[in-house]
Amino acid sequence: MKIETLLTPYFVESENMFANSLVVSIDVLRASTSICAALFNGAKEIIPVDSVDKAAQIYSNLSREIRLLGGERNMIKPDGFDLGNSPLDYTEDKVKNKTIILTTTNGTKAFLKAKQAKIKLIGAFVNQSAILHYIDSCLNNGINMIYFLCAGNQSRMAYEDVLCAGAFLHFLNKVNDFELSDSSLAAMNLFELHSNNIYEFIKNCEHPKKLIEVGLQADIEICLKTNAYNIIPIFESNSIKKISI
Ligand code: MLT
Repeated sequence: MKIETLLTPYFVESENMFANSLVVSIDVLRASTSICAALFNGAKEIIPVDSVDKAAQIYSNLSREIRLLGGERNMIKPDGFDLGNSPLDYTEDKVKNKTIILTTTNGTKAFLKAKQAKIKLIGAFVNQSAILHYIDSCLNNGINMIYFLCAGNQSRMAYEDVLCAGAFLHFLNKVNDFELSDSSLAAMNLFELHSNNIYEFIKNCEHPKKLIEVGLQADIEICLKTNAYNIIPIFESNSIKKISI
């Protein structure tokens, strides 16, 4: 089986490229991590949306008791939103049994890609083991290709997403005989290079630097907590729910 890593969500999509594939979409800082936090804390589902207007529209059609509007633009909670995009916002008292309409600058747009995939998961450092176990359980289930789809930053590569893909690849490659594309090999090698001190390295990367500048350093620390949330978020029809494990 081959594993391809899409370093940004802007790739040429060929016909049937995602047929029978399993795709793990990654936006470490912070959409993937916030989704894991929300599901871990009892949210019913997350509906990812690519624009603030669309999100507000869907929100206005849901009943008051069950709905929350979450996300960011330029890292900041838009006016009128209930929640931002910090994993710390998605606490049990706020999100339990709620439907969350989420729109973020890069993450939710990336999650909406690869629509033809047989299985679509949301991955991050915080749910690394859960995703690895799930991938393992799918290997004999008609899956013939695995993709890691990195959300990136404004159509460009984001180092932290590639490191996270690399971490998945590192552990998968230890116990299986996969064929790794060049981008997968590069991601895995980068992770192995930095695995002992990811925070020290990424604090100088583009998006983390901006988060630190606006006082969101604590978010980065949470987003790098490996296996903090034992959650498998699966994206089916239009919403992301957790698979019970
Ligand atoms: C995004 O989707 O671009 C991010 O999750 C940005 C962020 O809130 O840090």
